Amino acid sequence: MSVVRPPVVTVHLQTDWAASSFANDVRAGLSAQPRRLSPKWLYDDRGSELFDQITRLPEYYLTEAERGILRDSSSEIASLSAATTLIELGSGTSDKTRTLLDAFTATGQLERFVAVDVSEATLRGAAFDIAASYPGLAVEAVVGDFTQHLDRLPRGGRRVVAFLGSTIGNFYADERAEFLAALFATLEPGDSVLLGTDLVKDTGRLIAAYNDSAGVTSAFVTNCLAVMNRELGADFDLDAFSYVAQWDPALERMDLRLRVDKAQQVRIPGAGLDIGLAAGDEIQVEISAKFQLAALPALFTDAGFAHARTWTDPRADFALTLAFR
Ligand code: SAH
Ligand code: TRP
Repeated sequence: MSVVRPPVVTVHLQTDWAASSFANDVRAGLSAQPRRLSPKWLYDDRGSELFDQITRLPEYYLTEAERGILRDSSSEIASLSAATTLIELGSGTSDKTRTLLDAFTATGQLERFVAVDVSEATLRGAAFDIAASYPGLAVEAVVGDFTQHLDRLPRGGRRVVAFLGSTIGNFYADERAEFLAALFATLEPGDSVLLGTDLVKDTGRLIAAYNDSAGVTSAFVTNCLAVMNRELGADFDLDAFSYVAQWDPALERMDLRLRVDKAQQVRIPGAGLDIGLAAGDEIQVEISAKFQLAALPALFTDAGFAHARTWTDPRADFALTLAFR
């Protein structure tokens, strides 16, 4: 009988990470014009829970489209990648990842699964559940920031790095290039990346996916103000903002913002910042870039990777690409 091995948890974020790194980000982002916040601060425990609800919204087609592609292609991904270690960045609940794990364990090739996320409680929960479901598999949870700690990914074996959910779309172009370069630098020849990207489509469907009728997405984005109030002692009036989701056709991305409805002076003592917000001012909380199917190979080859294959769902809403280092 195989035994369940509890996950090994490694924490790369210092205990004051949330306080110090968050304070620096907020100070830089909210004193700049346009005012901007970094999306990693959306995922406190409440934010991770709200994101999980987003993935179940009828308007948010991304998760089911990607799940479908994974169902159809996971066996092929397992054999093409020949990986013995599956690393997942921004793993969240690792729910869709189970489809991959099933295919990789069916062939007997998989030795290790490593999940990397900043949201510690969600990550620990997911790693424990996966260790229980896949006895014999070595499961590691790395509490870390994929914009800072890629050089500390576990080494050894042939690795495939999965980055699902179109999280790559949440980087600005310069951040995306930096991320792919850091990933390329940390991998060995023969290792691969498996990247989920959302595709450009009908504007109405895109906007609905980021502005659902139940208001979950609005609550998810507005939660970043609550996080600043709690962690940095700020006094944002949560009811004085509206959530705005717009499609930018030139840059092919969703722009997700909070608009100030009522002028206010906000104190953010934890970041040493006081800001005056006028009615109509906006805070850019996140972007979600969408890709053209035909442009995907270049995304990888520009970063030095060899494009192997791109799969889409039947509607071509979403794409999954395997590329080699
Ligand atoms: N992979 C899942 C979750 C995507 S949501 C899916 O496809 O549904 C994005 C995830 O990335 C969240 O779990 C969030 O906590 C994590 N995350 C965001 N910024 C991060 C960062 N800089 N480093 C590590 N994890 C991050
Ligand atoms: N990676 C997800 C996406 O771009 C993150 C996300 C989903 C998101 N819904 C959101 C980010 C709403 C901000 C606001 O689709």
